[in-house]
Amino acid sequence: KLHVHTSPEQLAKVTRALRATGRKIAFVPTMGALHAGHRELMSRARRIPNTVLVASIFVNPLQFGAGEDFDRYPRPLDADLAACEEERVELVFTPAREALYPPDAQVTVHAGPLGEELEGAARPGHFSGVLTVVAKLFNIVRPDYALFGEKDYQQLVLIKKMVRDLDMEPHIIGVPTVRETDGLALSSRNAFLDADQRAAAVALSAALTAGQYAGREGEQAVLASARDVLARTPELKVDYVALRDPDLGPAPERGDARLLVAAKLGDTRLIDNVPVLLG
Ligand code: PAJ
Repeated sequence: KLHVHTSPEQLAKVTRALRATGRKIAFVPTMGALHAGHRELMSRARRIPNTVLVASIFVNPLQFGAGEDFDRYPRPLDADLAACEEERVELVFTPAREALYPPDAQVTVHAGPLGEELEGAARPGHFSGVLTVVAKLFNIVRPDYALFGEKDYQQLVLIKKMVRDLDMEPHIIGVPTVRETDGLALSSRNAFLDADQRAAAVALSAALTAGQYAGREGEQAVLASARDVLARTPELKVDYVALRDPDLGPAPERGDARLLVAAKLGDTRLIDNVPVLLG
């Protein structure tokens, strides 16, 4: 049965008591508007033996910039709770804004240099906002495992770096991106696309696939192939196409790399990424 908690103190008590009985805590943080991508994280978490599955639903104001979509971000709470119940989540944390951020809160987590690159260049302060809320949620829930999607690859890398650099305990598990049948990565923001934009959006994953196949020919071929596909969809305003190493440092000559893309369709910013094998 699903238990919904709005109080951080109450949830902290319950998760600590459950841990004391020997069960492990697996945690899936979300902003709600749950789709099959979120549900994949939950279903993976559920398959870890001897665990209590905890999810959070909180649209974190700290990670939205001025002029971004915080106000119009979808908040279908009843449907989200039904999805959690179907995924056999045991505890859901749905705090009010003031419960996590009292008006006098002022200490935050700083994401460091990687927080200013790629998504961070277009969204100043975004990753510090993400890391601050994730650190708070980790302190409340004290998970043994926390699951994040590769869809938000830079977020996943920064959370792993935060856990390492700040000596946090949770084991971070990355989950491959869940896609529509045409390749578009599932995202709550896809709901903002009209029919023409939805048709154009497939170019993101198509460009990444083209880049992936050029991996043998090296970095320049990968970038050229991806850009070539994107250029055929003029509605897409491309922000970046980047090839990096798996930790988002400079791309290696050969071996494992990550190809990332961000583009706008109208007012909607879409991101996607894939692994690439170079050389
Ligand atoms: P949100 O966008 O709701 O995503 C919650 C989790 O679901 C993230 O780990 C995200 O990477 C994952 N996810 C989203 N779409 C996915 C897909 N198509 N396939 C696989 N996983 C997917 O990311 C956030 O919320 C917030 O930044 C949060 C971490 C909750 C902090 O506020």
